[in-house]
Amino acid sequence: MERLQGSPWLLAHRSMLKPNQPRKFSLLDEDYVLWQDPQGRIQALPNACPHMGAMLSEGWCVPQSEGSSAVVCPFHALAFDRAGCTVLPGNKSTKSLLQPLELVIQGDFIWTYGGYEPKIPIPELMNTIAAEYQFIGVTGDLSIPTDILSLLLNMHDYNHQNGTHRELFEIEEVEVKQFIDAGLHSHAYLAQLRKQPMLREILKNPAQLALPKVLEAHLENYFPFMGIMHGDNKLLSLKECHFYLPESAQRSRVFVLMYMQAHAPIAHLLKRNLLKLVNVVVEQDAKILSHIYPNTPQRIKLNNEVGMDWVRRNFEQFPVVAEPNFSR
Ligand code: FES
Ligand SMILES: [Fe+2]
Repeated sequence: MERLQGSPWLLAHRSMLKPNQPRKFSLLDEDYVLWQDPQGRIQALPNACPHMGAMLSEGWCVPQSEGSSAVVCPFHALAFDRAGCTVLPGNKSTKSLLQPLELVIQGDFIWTYGGYEPKIPIPELMNTIAAEYQFIGVTGDLSIPTDILSLLLNMHDYNHQNGTHRELFEIEEVEVKQFIDAGLHSHAYLAQLRKQPMLREILKNPAQLALPKVLEAHLENYFPFMGIMHGDNKLLSLKECHFYLPESAQRSRVFVLMYMQAHAPIAHLLKRNLLKLVNVVVEQDAKILSHIYPNTPQRIKLNNEVGMDWVRRNFEQFPVVAEPNFSR
């Protein structure tokens, strides 16, 4: 898990942390417990209790002074404050036995470098989206038994609609109209020709209505941690923001934050369905990722694999970027 050290990772959106409810997050072979106190401050400690190793994320929170809270171990009920110190009766505390994970909180975004020295910056884009778009929700939050390279290849694979997602989109043809390679940042402009949905499919999932005959997709990618789908049509503008995290060598996580601007009142009715649709898409990706042999040598090359070539180059060279340039 040395390869991608120094990348920022979006660990969570604030809405994923209910006040005073500890939750476990894994990153780069470490487990952490995160919790949000009633004041909205977010804390992160290693998840293993320094007494006998119980998972603090299975515990609960107790109030402390000034509206902060400590996490309580579910095993013998020792409490740990935000600095990782054991809280003793009378609110006395010991020296810290748990080194807090450093977080970079930007509004509702909980970023971290996983304790490593930053090598690339956190992009401004999410702050811009949050300022201009309405947050619809989190979806497709899945931990998948696959390595991060396989996950990233899948997420930048412009050919897998016909297999992995065949029942959903019924894409007949994909064309990468333009790929702009700006090193660890890239843009892909796709034209995807789809069969028109049947009435019965529309009734089953009205979000299908938001999909036109040619799906024009603009994907904006930030290696290795994020990919944004910018979507626009008559009804709404959508920002589908995918985040990727290496939990360990053989486990990776993905989740999607959805934002939109409604251009017609009916767009608001589609929110729930959009979250559901994207959840199905991510589940389909997770399913195929659990059913591939990741180290098979690739002996067939298709068109439109430019996104995957970009992933492979960056994975080999991170955080440096040298030739080749994949722009076209
Ligand atoms: S294992 Fe946590 S208090 Fe004992
Ligand atoms: Fe997919």
